[in-house]
Amino acid sequence: MSADWVNDLASVGEYRLRCWTSADATALAAAWQDEDIARWNPVPDDTSEAAARRWIERHCMPAIDGASVDLVVTSATRGSDPRVALEFAESQADPVIGEIGLRIDPSRMIGEIGFWLDASYRGRQISGSLLGLCRVLVAAVGSPTTVAVVDAKNVAAKSSINRVGWPEVQTRPGSGVVAFQVPVG
Ligand SMILES: CC(C)(COP(=O)(O)OP(=O)(O)OC[C@H]1O[C@@H](n2cnc3c(N)ncnc32)[C@H](O)[C@@H]1OP(=O)(O)O)[C@@H](O)C(=O)NCCC(=O)NCCS
Repeated sequence: MSADWVNDLASVGEYRLRCWTSADATALAAAWQDEDIARWNPVPDDTSEAAARRWIERHCMPAIDGASVDLVVTSATRGSDPRVALEFAESQADPVIGEIGLRIDPSRMIGEIGFWLDASYRGRQISGSLLGLCRVLVAAVGSPTTVAVVDAKNVAAKSSINRVGWPEVQTRPGSGVVAFQVPVG
């Protein structure tokens, strides 16, 4: 199995998507332990670094036509110069700024996208690019109608999505969630 297609995804602003690597286990465990991420995103019961390492092993080679794709949001500028890339290889991988996860229903009738930013990157005007990368991913995998289902109390996520103008789709009254459709293209 190859995940080379991920390297071909367009960047948005200063950000791009990459696959998870074993070097990200500490960052992933920290994200699972983050209060806001745990509140608004599905996280496993075991949030240890060992569990993060096992999770990465299972998710580090996503297939373009698979039922689920989880990618790291990272910097598009760091490491773009081959000399700098070498320096990075010797020091650390491009940072885990956030994550985008896409699940496609087995019937391929609907896709659902989720995302988070590491706490140190919130409030820094990155959410517009993050949502732009969601669109890049949805287009690349050819996901069917794709929605972001947001808890009605999650003001930051709702405001970020409203700011980029994704249309709201109808949900069952009293469901406690707001759903937005990821625009195509
Ligand atoms: C959702 C998330 C990606 C948004 O990124 P962000 O950098 O925090 O958002 P921004 O700083 O761009 O702010 C977006 C809007 O939310 C508002 N906002 C941000 N945090 C807020 C908070 N805690 N309470 C109220 N409003 C908040 C901002 O004022 C801004 O409003 P505006 O568009 O009217 O100016 C980020 O907060 C996050 O990762 N949260 C935890 C995980 C999560 O909620 N994921 C989404 C699951 S569907």
